[in-house]
Amino acid sequence: MTEKLSKLLSRAPVVPLVQSNDRNEAVAIAEALLDGGMLVLEVVLRTDAAYECLQAITEAFPEVEVGAGTVLSGAHAEKATAHGAKFIVSPGLHESVVRVAQDNDIPVLPGIATATELQQAWNMGLRIVKFFPAGLSGGPKMLKALSSVFRDVAFMPTGGVNKDNLLEFLNIPSVVACGGSWLTPKAAIEAQNFQAIEKLSCQALEIAESRG
Ligand code: 3PG
Repeated sequence: MTEKLSKLLSRAPVVPLVQSNDRNEAVAIAEALLDGGMLVLEVVLRTDAAYECLQAITEAFPEVEVGAGTVLSGAHAEKATAHGAKFIVSPGLHESVVRVAQDNDIPVLPGIATATELQQAWNMGLRIVKFFPAGLSGGPKMLKALSSVFRDVAFMPTGGVNKDNLLEFLNIPSVVACGGSWLTPKAAIEAQNFQAIEKLSCQALEIAESRG
């Protein structure tokens, strides 16, 4: 499973979050992100229509790796899988979520913010995790400290990542990709300014390309 996930993220140094309560809007956001060069998308389960949005995006773009984020329970993970999620992301670590993902042979990235949580994830056989909330949990310094101990773990920092600190995170060798919502600002979505989303995506990938 780790291999599947590494392969997925090695092609996608930035994982944008999609949050919408409307399937057409969700598809438009996804389209803008894909036009901007994104290859992997995370649809967060934070709206009433989130599962519908997830399914609409997977149907519109079957070749794209679309996962579900903010997956809080095993039941959420089951439902997300049934709606086409190709990977699962959680803000924290919960055994039921990890179990459902593992039973369905789907990659899972639980959130961790401490050495204890990371050690639990490690003992569940996980070797790639989300570092969340990355900014408030100590940022790049904390990530480097965790990486020096858990030498075989890769991270996807998310939460407080933006264009200004993206490179600093990506330049840490254990970071496979960074996730975030800065690519899909609410104001741009409300204004139906999908071009702005495309531009932000291009900009983020340009920054990622300058990774040392
Ligand atoms: C997440 O769900 O991973 C976070 O809400 C993303 O955090 P951000 O909004 O700071 O990018």
